[in-house]
Amino acid sequence: MIPVCEPVVTEAEIAAVTDCLRTGWISSAGKYLDAFEQKWAAFCGRRHGIAMTNGTATLEVALAALRFPPGSEVILPTFTIISCASAVMFNGLKPVLVDADPRSWCMDVRQVAERISPRTRAILVVHMYGHPVDMTPLLRLAEQHGIAIIEDAAEVHGAEYLCDHDTAVPIWRRCGSFGELSSFSFYANKLITTGEGGMLLTDDDALASRCRSLRNLCFQPQRRFFHEELGWNCRMTNLQAALGVSQIDRLPEIVEQKRSIVATYRRLLADVPGLSFQVEEPWARSVAWVAGVLLDDDHPLDASDVMTRMKAAGIETRPFFLGMHEQPVFRREGLFEGDRFPVAERLARKGFYLPNGLALQPAQLERISETLAGIVIADPHRKCAA
Ligand SMILES: Cc1ncc(COP(=O)(O)O)c(C=O)c1O
Repeated sequence: MIPVCEPVVTEAEIAAVTDCLRTGWISSAGKYLDAFEQKWAAFCGRRHGIAMTNGTATLEVALAALRFPPGSEVILPTFTIISCASAVMFNGLKPVLVDADPRSWCMDVRQVAERISPRTRAILVVHMYGHPVDMTPLLRLAEQHGIAIIEDAAEVHGAEYLCDHDTAVPIWRRCGSFGELSSFSFYANKLITTGEGGMLLTDDDALASRCRSLRNLCFQPQRRFFHEELGWNCRMTNLQAALGVSQIDRLPEIVEQKRSIVATYRRLLADVPGLSFQVEEPWARSVAWVAGVLLDDDHPLDASDVMTRMKAAGIETRPFFLGMHEQPVFRREGLFEGDRFPVAERLARKGFYLPNGLALQPAQLERISETLAGIVIADPHRKCAA
């Protein structure tokens, strides 16, 4: 079976993790943790990094740190992982959704203005599958309405966005450098991984210290077991940071490899009718986190049919997200009733991603492409039985 993704761990990372084990610095303090926080914040152009257990916890802490009144609304894309909506719900806030953009598959920024109400307090911007969201209109809206921006940059380590691309003086900026807080995941399939892990970044000193307190059970510096507030234990360990920190130097090379895998799929599958890829906008430098493909609307097969056949041929794939408005857990509560998001619904039914691990060989990319082309072209009218 060709796996959809496999992490590549180098000798430098093994040496750093071994150093933690040999010196006993295995818990949530240590030089690798400090270095990881500082280095990742600096790489993204931010002042503070607060490392945590995963990218779900970072979103929960980010929203808690901003202290919105209960019932405040947060605008986010429907086409995303459940972590975004659950972070909103667990904080007693109300998720308000927008559809995906049919080209970039990121949130459709044109829909955000019409979803802003007097109760809106934040936009949770989710960069999708390696590609940045069009930030400029969102930053303008946020300023105009006095609302916060939280970036979920879990899937875009190192991606860049051309700010103010509609003006004469555009500037490239890294994803994760915008708004009040930005959030990252370092799960095993991410470009930089600590196995499980996450980090919040901010330029705001007060927010940074609040996030540090929230991730550490709100222990007080002066009186440890005295609590004014409730927090979480979502501290990252020095061991995890040791695994992650030296990958920051390798990131440009990892990005090039990921982009080259997607470019190869595009070339090998260019003549296959009925398939399309995520469009890289001229104002974006995608890091090609996944190699997503989308079947045409009128193709008789759904993504699940193709994925079953790929699996039978020894090739692992993954489905796209199912929109938040289609999730039973929210429907049961009557949330998003009457909301229709046709682009996200199409992506969920027709989209999936191909293997793009760094260890993939050219012959494997050819085999995957040939298999996919065969399934999509050869026999499109027979529905898969499985
Ligand atoms: C956009 C997005 N946000 C948040 C998360 C959650 O991160 P984690 O798996 O580290 O909790 C993910 C995970 O893949 C993600 O893709």
